Amino acid sequence: MLIAPDSAALVRLAAEEVARRAESAVIARGRFTLALSGGSTPKGLYTLLADPAEPFRARIPWRQTHVFFGDERHVPPDHPDSNYGMARATLLAKVPIPPENVHRIRAERTDPASAALEYEQELRLAFGMGAAGTGPAEARGGLGPGELPRLDLVLLGLGSDGHTASLFPGATALEERAHLVVATWVERLKTHRITLTLPLLDAARAVVFLVAGAEKAGRVADVLQGSGAALPASRVRPGGELIWLLDSAAAAALRGEREAHP
Ligand code: 6PG
Repeated sequence: MLIAPDSAALVRLAAEEVARRAESAVIARGRFTLALSGGSTPKGLYTLLADPAEPFRARIPWRQTHVFFGDERHVPPDHPDSNYGMARATLLAKVPIPPENVHRIRAERTDPASAALEYEQELRLAFGMGAAGTGPAEARGGLGPGELPRLDLVLLGLGSDGHTASLFPGATALEERAHLVVATWVERLKTHRITLTLPLLDAARAVVFLVAGAEKAGRVADVLQGSGAALPASRVRPGGELIWLLDSAAAAALRGEREAHP
């Protein structure tokens, strides 16, 4: 866990994480696969990554970078709620990433379940896995390790109810073991979402939670030090690295934690 004094320092810490992992992934494997989170918190990060006056844009090998999305709202890409639309405006339209390397969820589809299936196939193809594995994963109780794309870095946020990506408390999507991507109805928001599932999140080489603001402090403490074991964000347990990047406001309810001094 790293605690930054304020949100500006937080996004700089996050930008360093992204750039460092991009550099090492391309050296190690010739490409960098990154899943972006939505909402408002990452906007500052994406803006910083795209800023030509800052070092990060030049450090990231955009031509070898593939961008995916942790979740998407059930809206077209030009809708103000679209996570892709936000990422495009703040980052993707400002960096030299090949268009074919941007893998957006086609959430304009009338049927969110078909958008989820389509995205699952796109993910599998992007990782050279072809169509679904041998026999329906459902019948085998879930995807085997060899059937899980390993993203180099997944960025996640934390909702004030403990959700992450579009995995909301009590959702059946939390129990999904056979699919990489599902559509899920969010009763509180009265809308469908499309989300990566826990098996795929947990297969990542690294998951970074980026959380800012006093309104998240209680939930951060629940997840990291308290009674929040059942919360969706608590159930993300990657085999790789799990890193929490917080500003001091979001970390305020944590016992015994000190700010990082970058
Ligand atoms: C989304 C996100 C979601 C987000 C949290 C935090 O589609 O909204 O994927 O999981 O990360 O809701 O959102 P804020 O950053 O806006 O607080």
